[in-house]
Amino acid sequence: MIMTAPHLLLGTNWKMNKTVEEAKDYVQELLQRLATIKGADTVQLFLIPPFTAIAPVKQASEGKFWVGAQNMHWEESGAFTGEISPSMLQELGVDLVELGHAERRQHFNESDEDVNRKVLTALKHALRPVLCLGESARDREYQVELETVARQLKIAVRGVELVLAHKLIVAYEPLWAIGGKGTAATSNEVRRMIRHIRAVLMSLFDGEVASAIPVVYGGDVNVRNAPDFLNVAELDGLFVGRAGWHAHDFAQLVQVCAQVGVARHCLRNDGRARKSM
Ligand code: PGA
Repeated sequence: MIMTAPHLLLGTNWKMNKTVEEAKDYVQELLQRLATIKGADTVQLFLIPPFTAIAPVKQASEGKFWVGAQNMHWEESGAFTGEISPSMLQELGVDLVELGHAERRQHFNESDEDVNRKVLTALKHALRPVLCLGESARDREYQVELETVARQLKIAVRGVELVLAHKLIVAYEPLWAIGGKGTAATSNEVRRMIRHIRAVLMSLFDGEVASAIPVVYGGDVNVRNAPDFLNVAELDGLFVGRAGWHAHDFAQLVQVCAQVGVARHCLRNDGRARKSM
């Protein structure tokens, strides 16, 4: 059945931060704060802790948010020292897996083809891929950002079956904006790129399926600039790093998203049919 998407998405990637104890404290505080936020249930939250904190975060989540992993190997098992397999994540009840983050591409030489293998494996294991795309400062300087993002996207989803494609979440995260290296994109830049990503998705998948794939923005998002981004009607949510590392900051973002989520929920008449998430 085709339905309109009920939720904005808001996720945080903790990167290489938080011990198990710190993660438990965070979740406890977040749950307390969520209980006081009106409309919080209009926002689908997801937390992406380091591997070591996935199990306790999932156990403490009370089903209030999805829990993800920051990476995964594409093979089922084998001689891959230091890697984590899809079934290891499934066993922990992981809902999604972040793939192709710019820091993985940059520091660990992940190629578009690696990301493609991981996307296919994740879908096979019923793990939602959060597929990260984004151009470098150099791409931007030479004005090839649209080409770069299209290339990353086309290669990453090659071979994805139409029936599984709506499980994808696409995160546009320009390398020049993330992790404190620069400043956020403008809302106009985000709108332009989200439209481009949507157009590429439309060229790859059936229109109904392509429009069911959420596209979110990440890169220096904070509670001050979040409302601007959320004014971009084409955007399905936000994905943050630093602004989600403290429960009180993340809860403030939930509050901002919830206000927009409630409004969008009421006004949803743009005719964009969505598969149920
Ligand atoms: P940032 O990171 O919000 O700290 O800029 C975003 C990301 O890397 O996903």
